[in-house]
Amino acid sequence: MRLDKFISSQRGDLSRSAVKELCRKGLVTVNGTAVKKSDTRIDEHTDVIAVSGEVIGYREFVYIMLNKPQGVVCATKDRLSDTVLELIPPELRRGGLFPAGRLDKDTEGFVLITDDGDLAHKMLSPKSHVPKTYLVRTAYPTAPELVELFASGLTIDGGEVCMPAELTLSDDPYQCTLVLHEGKFHQVKRMFEACANKVTYLRRTRIGGLELDKSLPLGGCLEIVHKDVEKLLAR
Ligand code: URA
Repeated sequence: MRLDKFISSQRGDLSRSAVKELCRKGLVTVNGTAVKKSDTRIDEHTDVIAVSGEVIGYREFVYIMLNKPQGVVCATKDRLSDTVLELIPPELRRGGLFPAGRLDKDTEGFVLITDDGDLAHKMLSPKSHVPKTYLVRTAYPTAPELVELFASGLTIDGGEVCMPAELTLSDDPYQCTLVLHEGKFHQVKRMFEACANKVTYLRRTRIGGLELDKSLPLGGCLEIVHKDVEKLLAR
């Protein structure tokens, strides 16, 4: 791969022309030697590339945990609203990133941003049954009978039958936790509506076996480390 292509694909804040300039200044090294020509060919798997002394590790794909705030849409482009991609810090930006799955504009919480289409497909496919956990606040107390009803497969508007879902009540009757194994359109809201209740606040707290980092502020991102990526698919 060309050196400039490698660096700009790994570092969204460095364009190819920026890399050219850094090379000219002698700030780019390959295996410890300054390289002046940005079109030099490198082996991205074995060569050690550094910019201003900082080594750039090769990542084929990136996986970013975003704590989505309300008011932002899960899309790559939107004419009217800010998108989740605009919350990605420059050093994590690169071509091909997209949100794997959608939360509503007024829902908060865990959104995975990645450029790994295969993983996203596995995570979202209804056949994979990857659980998604939601903290739900409702306008009226949640009736305890809903635990059984949700577990047996609730029918929502239009006759759609939901897969069995795990509802856990809390000491606060207006707050509960729901685990879904599929992702129908507005599913959580529609499930509560079907039971004469209304969702007033919704936050996704977990995807598969990976919990939204509690220290991550709304709008904050962190890169998911390699060993945690497979937890996204854990049932
Ligand atoms: N269910 C909903 O109703 N909205 C979301 O954003 C996610 C799940």
